This record gives sequence, structure tokens and C-alpha cells, in this order.
Amino acid sequence: MCGIVGFTGQVNALPILMKGLYSLEYRGYDSAGIAAFTGHGLEVVKTKGRIVNLEEKIREAGNPYSTCGIGHTRWATHGSPSDRNSHPHLGGPDGKVAVVHNGIIENYLFLRQQLEKHGYVFQSETDTETVAHLIDYLHTGRQEDLAQTVLKAVGLLRGSYALGVVSMADQQEIVAARRDNPLIIGLGEGENMIASDITAIISRTRKYIILDDNEVAVVRPDRVTVYNQLGDVVDKPVQEVSWDLSAAEKGGYAHFMLKEIMEQPRAVSDTVRPRIQDGHIMLEDSGLTDERLRSIEHIHIIACGSALHAGMVGRAVIEDLCRVRCEATVASEFRYSNPIISEKDLCIVISQSGETADSLAAMRQAQAAGAFTVAIVNVVSSSIAREADGVLYTWAGPEIAVATTKGYSAQLAALYLIAARTALARGLLGADQEAEICRDLLALPEGIRQALDCVKTMQCLASLYSNRSSVFYLGRGLDYAAGMEASLKLKEISYVHSEAYAAGELKHGTISLIEEGTLVVALATQERLFEKTVSNIREVASRGAEVILVTTDEFDGDASVCKSIIRLPTCPERFSASLSIIPLQLLAYYIAVERSCDVDKPRNLAKSVTVE
Ligand code: G6P
Repeated sequence: MCGIVGFTGQVNALPILMKGLYSLEYRGYDSAGIAAFTGHGLEVVKTKGRIVNLEEKIREAGNPYSTCGIGHTRWATHGSPSDRNSHPHLGGPDGKVAVVHNGIIENYLFLRQQLEKHGYVFQSETDTETVAHLIDYLHTGRQEDLAQTVLKAVGLLRGSYALGVVSMADQQEIVAARRDNPLIIGLGEGENMIASDITAIISRTRKYIILDDNEVAVVRPDRVTVYNQLGDVVDKPVQEVSWDLSAAEKGGYAHFMLKEIMEQPRAVSDTVRPRIQDGHIMLEDSGLTDERLRSIEHIHIIACGSALHAGMVGRAVIEDLCRVRCEATVASEFRYSNPIISEKDLCIVISQSGETADSLAAMRQAQAAGAFTVAIVNVVSSSIAREADGVLYTWAGPEIAVATTKGYSAQLAALYLIAARTALARGLLGADQEAEICRDLLALPEGIRQALDCVKTMQCLASLYSNRSSVFYLGRGLDYAAGMEASLKLKEISYVHSEAYAAGELKHGTISLIEEGTLVVALATQERLFEKTVSNIREVASRGAEVILVTTDEFDGDASVCKSIIRLPTCPERFSASLSIIPLQLLAYYIAVERSCDVDKPRNLAKSVTVE
């Protein structure tokens, strides 16, 4: 989704802004632009398409020199991706103000109509241009500084925003503001930055401040001042980035996605190990005390995308181990469905980025209804992490590829920890079983490492099947949930249509789509369901499907109709989704490579979805 970077200091801002924009590419975007103070005033260069196109335009503009500017990658919401709709947007008839914006201004139409009555002429279809003109309107002719005007302006906005604003009135200053959209301020020596995430500042500084909702910051080379809604100065704690730059680089891999797939053993190990001490699962610091876990009546898991798929696996494991009712719900549905929540409920919000707008809103709703909320989040100090009642961090490290892999695997591990601790607290597991589960969880990274050995096989299968127009994933129970994630991976990055189906449900409609040569990936990791899934495999094979079976070493069913069998290393059934996804991430990856897709930055998708 949209990205913001801004720099003010003593050196040329343009290369810094460009580097920042490149590091934000992973969030997903369709156009990019910058605004900077140069010898010609406030210059804007922007374009539809990739950042290389922007670089080209900046070269054509003579590589202007500037020590202060703002940049943006846009993911279109209001108005198609085009040069005109790209950010930054200029405010006022003479373009003295420039604005970059992430989020959606919901009352933009009303404001636009009012501003048009005052003679403002709009160049774009965006909601953002309204903010630029509004700031100009409120600023013009008044003896107040830009920050005061921005405070007034944001008071008139409905919706969500992270804003970077510059004005000709002070060519060293950037004003930043935020509501429901992340924004940080990077603190350097004689220079400071604004950014929508850490990757954009880390090459220059590791120190940063997190702007909170409704705050406005004035960022100058030598100082940063943050104001609250009332205009009072706020003292902000300085944070330090805990990972180093190499974590956000490809490290010799062709794509971030492949690197991140390979990093999964470490991601899971780093998530599990700190939580297991002397053979015990420790979650108390996340607010998940045994007392609380004992009294829970209902568990809601709320998430979007892959995080929801992790939640679906978690739901099955929790219900199986803990015998407590658990639902996994799409956050965007949860928030508008008048959900039944009580004070005895636990709400688990899962989010890699910790910034997903729907997940954040659903969590707030659950909190307001009195539920205890615990967040499974990867990005430290993200909005969901800060607002949840308790946090269980996944330590996957920065995830750059839009399609999540290691983030998802770490989420599964975190859910297993919660499931096991809950079962222990409720007396459903004894000390011996706790020791066994701890051993199993600690062995999971090695199981994933062994599962990764199928990399060459999956590459071969990808070259065989990359030309298929439709792929189906079949499975039951945990395998169905894993199939949902496998299917999402494939369609996200290779643009091949695919669907995951509960294996027994296929014949109630979707089987009509199976024809000669259709690829079906069947998952069978639960022994008691082997035979059932075999029947479903035969149903599709006899209608012409070519079947890849992903199963375990224990599988002894009839797989004679399958074109290929991938055997997973041995692991307890309840954790099998952590292994079965590995070959299928690789399959999706290599099919996307075969089809020459932009694996790390698939079209139309965003890594961090900060709008509804
Ligand atoms: C986007 C990403 C998905 C991700 C989902 C939820 O759609 O493309 O990969 O699963 O958001 O993101 P979150 O950060 O909340 O896990």
C-alpha cells in the first residue's frame, strides 16, 4: 500500500528519497513521485508506474539538488493510477504547498465542493488533493506556522491519514500527521526523516519516534517537535531498530520471497524458543495468564489474508486441544457483523504488519465490548501491537515480499503456543504432555528445514504445470486450511486462478470445473482421513485431473492415480500445516518465476493494507 518518505538535512535529499522509495516498493504501488525545494522553488516530479520511471523523469529534469523533500509510492484508491493522480499533490493556485498521503479521506467530496466554491481548481481525482488545497486555504493570509494549519486541517478530515506536508513558507521543514495510518520519524545527526515504515530510514538512522494518532510533528534538520490534538508539545520516547540492514536485503537470492521461504526454520525457532523455558510454555507477559485462559468462554480469531489462514489452522488446533469454542473470522466482516462478544472472550488478532486497517478496527471493537485482546504481530511497536491488551511477537524479522511466507509460519507457531498453554491451563494436558509438546515445537524448525529439501522437485513440477489456467487444492480439516493458504500463494504471485476446497465438498459443484489436465493438489497429512481424501483424489483423477499429493511418510493409501507424491518429514499431526505449506509455497514461487511474474511485487497487491 502507499509509502511515504521525507528528508530534511544538509545533503542532497533526492538520492535519499529515491532510496527510501525503493525500500518501500515492497508495500505494493502503482505510481511514485517526489516534491523538493530546488533552485526553481517547490518542484514536483511524479509518474505512473515503477520507481525506475520516476528516476528517469528526475534525470530528465536535470537531477535537481535539494536538502528537503517528500516522496511517495501510491496504491490507487481514488482515481486510476496515472501521472495526474500520483502524489505529491500541490495545494493552492500557485502550488506553494505539497502533500503526500496514505489512507482515505472519507469526506473528501464535501471538502472538495466547498473548496471549489472558493475557486480552487482540482487537477486530479484523488482525495489527497483536497487536503493540499485545504491546507493552502487555511494557511493563506494567516500569520501562523504550517503545523498549526495542519492541526486545523486534520480536525476537518474524516477517515485515515498519514501525511507529509511541505510549504514554500519554510523550505527546511516537513510537517507530518497521522490518524490510523503508520508514520515514524527517523532521527539523524543534523538531519531527520519521516517514513511510513522503518525500511525507508534504516540506511541513515536506527533511531526513530512513532507518531501516534492525532499527533502532528514538525521535522527540521536540527529538531523534531511533536504536538497533540490540543497543540501541546508531547515528549516522545525514542525507539531503536533491533534488526540490521542485511535482514532487508536479498542476500544472494533471486527474490525476497525465496529468501524468506528459506528463512522459515529460523523464523519459527526465534518465535518458539523464547517462549519455552525449562520445559514450560511461558505466555504470561502477553497477558495470557493461566487464570485468564481458564475462564475464557469463547475465542475469536480475527485477521485478513494469510494471517486469517493461519487463524483457521489455529482455530482447529485450539478447539482440538482446548475444547473451547473458537472462530476465525475475516476482520472486515467481523467489524460490521454485530459480533457477539463478552467480557469472558479472548480475541486473538493476527497481523504480520500490525497495521492492517480492518484488523485494527475489529480489535478495537472487541476491546470496546470488554474482550481481552492479544495480538500475534511481527512488526514491533506497530499499531496493533501497541493497542492490544497483550502481544505475542513473531520473530520472523522484516518480511519484504508481498506474499507472506515466514510471517505466516511464525504465526502458526505462535498459535500452537497459545493452544498448548490454554489446554494446560484448563487441565486438559498434563506435565508429560507439556514436555512432549515443547519437544515437538522445538523440533518444528528442523522439520521445516527438511521439508525445504523438496526445492528441486517443486521447481521441476512448476515447470511442468506453469501453463495451467486453473489449479485446485483439496484437503480436509487442517489440510483444507493449509490448502487455502497454498491456493492464495499461487494466485497472488502467479495470477493463475486457483481455489481451495474442502475435499468432501468438491463434488457439490466445483467438480464440474475439473477437466482433462486440470492440476489438483491434494493434501493428506491426517491419518484418520487418508482414505477419505484418497476417494476424493480418485473422483478428480477419473475426470482427467492431474494430481500432486502432499502427504506424510505414514501415508499407505492408494496413490496410484497421482502424478507425483511429496512426502513430508514426520511431525505430530496437529502441527502438520507448518510442513505441508512448505512445498506449496515453493510450487507457487517457481510457477510465478516460470511465468515471468514480478514475484516480490505482484500487481495490485499491497503488503500492508492500511485502508478498509
Ligand atoms: C495483505 C497481504 C497479505 C497479508 C494480508 C494481511 O493482503 O498481501 O499477504 O496476509 O494483507 O496482512 P497482515 O499484515 O495483517 O498480516
